[in-house]
Amino acid sequence: MTTTSSEIIIAPSILSADFARLGAEVSDVIDAGADWIHVDVMDGHFVPNITIGPAVVQALRPLTDRVLDTHLMITPADPYLEAFAKAGSDIITIHAEAGPHVDRSLAHIRQLGKQAGVAICPGTPESAIEYVLDRLDLILVMTVEPGFGGQSFIPAMVEKIRRVRAMIGNRPIRLEVDGGITPDTIRACVEAGADTFVAGSAVFKGNRDAYENAITALRTNARG
Ligand code: DX5
Ligand code: ZN
Repeated sequence: MTTTSSEIIIAPSILSADFARLGAEVSDVIDAGADWIHVDVMDGHFVPNITIGPAVVQALRPLTDRVLDTHLMITPADPYLEAFAKAGSDIITIHAEAGPHVDRSLAHIRQLGKQAGVAICPGTPESAIEYVLDRLDLILVMTVEPGFGGQSFIPAMVEKIRRVRAMIGNRPIRLEVDGGITPDTIRACVEAGADTFVAGSAVFKGNRDAYENAITALRTNARG
């Protein structure tokens, strides 16, 4: 996986895909121009919803060599890091709020040979991750409360994105946003410094032919 902080990455979230035909959905969205595939893992405990586990990542892995961007909304996360690594995740993102030992969890992800990400919920200040920056390949600023697709973008998060971008400085860390990202909200996030965009409901709507238009609209508006 090669990425530079200047390129725009569009990562459709399979949370909004048709789970009954998930493999085909992943192939279709890649054909439509997706850069990464964002995999939302929820435990019904850290967030009020339950989705999928490592077995699904393992099933998707042979379908693509694109980055599988795994967003763990689970607590505890530590007991499952190895399983997601073995299943074929490329990036494993934990939540700063999900456990007391974020530094150790991030180090573990890298020891497993994977890229390490940390996510922060809307109410969590960016200072929560200030001292783990050198452990990170990706920061995920949640632009909705995690748990469900189709929620509205929280405008106050634009300022947080700006502050996180300043905090990153010249470190090779991607700045991802997730939640309510649409052609209408993406540009403000780019201007604030985000470079990686998760989009669920804005991509997986209509039939497969619509996916390409949806991804193109995100990319076009991201450029401004
Ligand atoms: C929310 C998930 C998101 C979700 C985004 O908890 O982390 O990845 O799928 O969905 P949209 O783009 O519809 O807000
Ligand atoms: Zn997500």
